[in-house]
Amino acid sequence: MELVIATRNQGKLKEIRRLLAESAIEVRGLESFPELPEVEEDGTTFAENACKKAETIARLTGRLTLADDSGLEVAALAGAPGVYSARYAGAGASDGDNNAKLLVALDGIPAEQRQGAFCCAMALAAPGQDTRLFFGRVEGRILPEPRGSGGFGYDPLFLVREFAQTMAELPMETKNRISHRGQALRQALAVLLEVMKEDAE
Ligand code: IMP
Repeated sequence: MELVIATRNQGKLKEIRRLLAESAIEVRGLESFPELPEVEEDGTTFAENACKKAETIARLTGRLTLADDSGLEVAALAGAPGVYSARYAGAGASDGDNNAKLLVALDGIPAEQRQGAFCCAMALAAPGQDTRLFFGRVEGRILPEPRGSGGFGYDPLFLVREFAQTMAELPMETKNRISHRGQALRQALAVLLEVMKEDAE
């Protein structure tokens, strides 16, 4: 089975590839389809954006497509950066710019009020079929300084209490086991494996 992953985010793609590595699913990134346009993420929820990305790419490629829309919600910031996580510091912002803006926004806020959660909505779309949605969420705390060099995005600032390490300090296997993306993808994988089984019968 071939599955297009509708993301240009190399961090996400790496994690998704690793999670699907032991399945018989052949993963195709968007680099295989250079002619495809950018899909504008103008929804107000992760689910809306994930569906739009998956359905647009499924229609344009004619293939089964998985899209992840994810981000960081910080309670003390009324849920920001939320769906704007990738462009929190402005269009074209780097992970470093976004992290710097988050630290300024949380300046002076004590540790016990720095709870955050990574959220993921994953959409599985195929031409002419109903789209399926899967969700994942992991809680943590936003540190006042970055730690670690793994992962991507806000990982160096996101402390996972269970391990007393940031997402950027954890090996990818551990991050994938607990992360918002790992949770959502395992549900999507169960559906994909069921479909493969039915196809084979
Ligand atoms: P999207 O491509 O619109 O879904 O934006 C995702 C953004 O959310 C990324 O650019 C990161 O800033 C943030 N994000 C999502 N998942 C993660 C993660 O696993 N670690 C760190 N940051 C993440």
